[in-house]
Amino acid sequence: MYFSCMKLHIINGPNLNLLGSREPTIYGATTFEAFFKQLTAQFPSVELSYYQSNIEGELIDALQAADTLYDGVILNAAAYTHTSVAIGDAVKAIATPVVEVHISNVYAREEYRHLSYIAPHAKGVIAGLGMQSYALAVQSFV
Ligand code: DQA
Repeated sequence: MYFSCMKLHIINGPNLNLLGSREPTIYGATTFEAFFKQLTAQFPSVELSYYQSNIEGELIDALQAADTLYDGVILNAAAYTHTSVAIGDAVKAIATPVVEVHISNVYAREEYRHLSYIAPHAKGVIAGLGMQSYALAVQSFV
């Protein structure tokens, strides 16, 4: 019998390529690459992949391309979370479930970070637990 393992795709938005050096008091001192290695070791039964872009349209292309290919998408749209109707529409348009994640607790920060154009279309939202927000999002699918 053939069992295909669960496939999850992480999509990271602008400035998340700088994790490890960007505002470490807020986002921590670990690079996403180093964290991703830990994450894949933590979930050996899940096929994990990730993509990062600083460009809004590329994030929309990545969401559209992920549709039907993956069992789920874990999306940290970073600052676009709070500004992008287009990314919210893309999340709404695809059938693959999307979990919105944030490293920081956006609700404890500036008011402009309290609005999410993604949350109304997301399966769930995990925020404020550091890089563990991603691990909990993976856990939510397994
Ligand atoms: C973030 C929170 C956003 O408000 C911010 O613009 C980011 C990162 C987070 O993961 O905490 O770039 O999405």
